[in-house]
Amino acid sequence: MGLPFQHALEEIRLIQFRCFESLVFRPDNHFNLIVGPNAQGKTSLLEAICVLLRLQSPRTSIFTPLISHGRGGFSLEGTCSGRHLQVRYEMGVRKLRVDSVEQKSPRTYLSVGRVAWFANSDGELIRGGSGTRRRYLDFMGSQIDPNYMPHLRAYERAWRSRNFLLKEGAAGKEIHAFDKPLVTSGEALATCRQAIVDALKPLFSQAVKEISGKEEAVTLHYERGFQSDFHQELLASESEERRFRHTLVGVHRDELRLLLGGEPAVTFASEGQQRTIALSLKLAQVRLLTEQTNAAPILLLDDIFGELDAERRRRLLENLPKEAQKILTTTDLRANFGDISDIAIFEIAQNQLYRKK
Ligand SMILES: Nc1ncnc2c1ncn2[C@@H]1O[C@H](COP(=O)(O)OP(=O)(O)OP(=O)(O)O)[C@@H](O)[C@H]1O
Ligand SMILES: [Mg+2]
Repeated sequence: MGLPFQHALEEIRLIQFRCFESLVFRPDNHFNLIVGPNAQGKTSLLEAICVLLRLQSPRTSIFTPLISHGRGGFSLEGTCSGRHLQVRYEMGVRKLRVDSVEQKSPRTYLSVGRVAWFANSDGELIRGGSGTRRRYLDFMGSQIDPNYMPHLRAYERAWRSRNFLLKEGAAGKEIHAFDKPLVTSGEALATCRQAIVDALKPLFSQAVKEISGKEEAVTLHYERGFQSDFHQELLASESEERRFRHTLVGVHRDELRLLLGGEPAVTFASEGQQRTIALSLKLAQVRLLTEQTNAAPILLLDDIFGELDAERRRRLLENLPKEAQKILTTTDLRANFGDISDIAIFEIAQNQLYRKK
C-alpha cells in the first residue's frame, strides 16, 4: 500500500465566530505555525477548523458560546480535500451544505474531513472524570464509523427520556417503553467502543515507547457500563433506579481505564508520566484514524510545545505522521520546532491574520 491519502484544509472563512467578525485562513498542505500573544484568537481559529470539519468543538458541547458576542449567529465555510463545506448556526438551528447542496443529515458532510486535536488540557484525559475519556472515544468513533453518532444520539435520547420519567416517578410501563432503544443503541455503541479500544491498545503502547523513549507498563482497558445482558440488568435494577431516580446501568457509565504497572495512572503516574500518557493517547488516535480511514487526519496542535520538555517535543514532532497537514499555534516563535524547512508562518494580532513566510 502506498502512502495514505492526506486530508487537507485548503481554506476556511469565519464569520461572527468567537472574537472574529470575519477572517480567512489559507494554510499550506504541510506545516503551519500560527504565532501570536495571548487572547488573539489562536485557539478560536483551531476550534473553527474543528467545528467546520467535525461539527464539534473541543471546548464546548453547545454552539451558542461560539457566536461572537452581540451577534445572532455564526457561519463557517471552507474547502477540504476539494469539497466545499458550510455550517451556519442561527437561532438554535444548524444548517449544513456540501458543495452548495443543503444536507438534511450530517452523514455526507462528516465524511469529508478527519481531525485530531492536541492541547494542554489533554491532561484531563488522565485527571478528569470518565466522561472526558468517553468523549475521546466518541471523537474517534464518529470519525471511523458513520453509524457511531446515530447510535450515540439514539442512546442519549432514550437515556434522557428514561431519566426524566424516573425523576417524575412515572409508571413502569412508560419507563420501559424506552428500554428497547436504550438497549439496542447501547449494545451497538459498546461493540464499537470495544473495537476502538482493541485497535488502540498496540498503537498506544507503541506511542508510549516513542514519547518516553523506553518501555512503560501502561495499559488501556475498556470497562462496559453493563456486565453481559444489558436488558436483564436494566430490569434487575428497577427498584434501585426508582430510589436513585435515574438509569443506573448502561454505556453512559463506560470507562476507559488507564493503568500504570496495574495501578490507576491518575494516582500513580508522575506529572511527566501523565503527560506522556496523554500525548500517547492522542498519537494513538492519529494512527488509528490513519489506519482505519487510510488517510492522515489534519492535526491541530494548540500551544502544547511550551509545556513540553525539549526531549518530548522532539519525540512528538518526529512521530507525527510526515504526510499529515499540521496546524500549530504558539505564543513564542523561539520554541524549538526542529528542522522544518517547508514551514508556513502566520501572525495573529487584533483578530487579523498575516502570512509571514
Ligand atoms: N463568543 C465570543 N465573542 C467574542 N469574543 C470571544 C468569544 N469567546 C471568546 N472570546 C474572546 O476571544 C479572544 C481570543 O480567545 P482565544 O482563546 O482564541 O485566544 P488565544 O489566542 O488562544 O489565547 P491564549 O494564548 O491565551 O490561549 C479572548 O479575548 C476571548 O475572551
Ligand atoms: Mg489559546
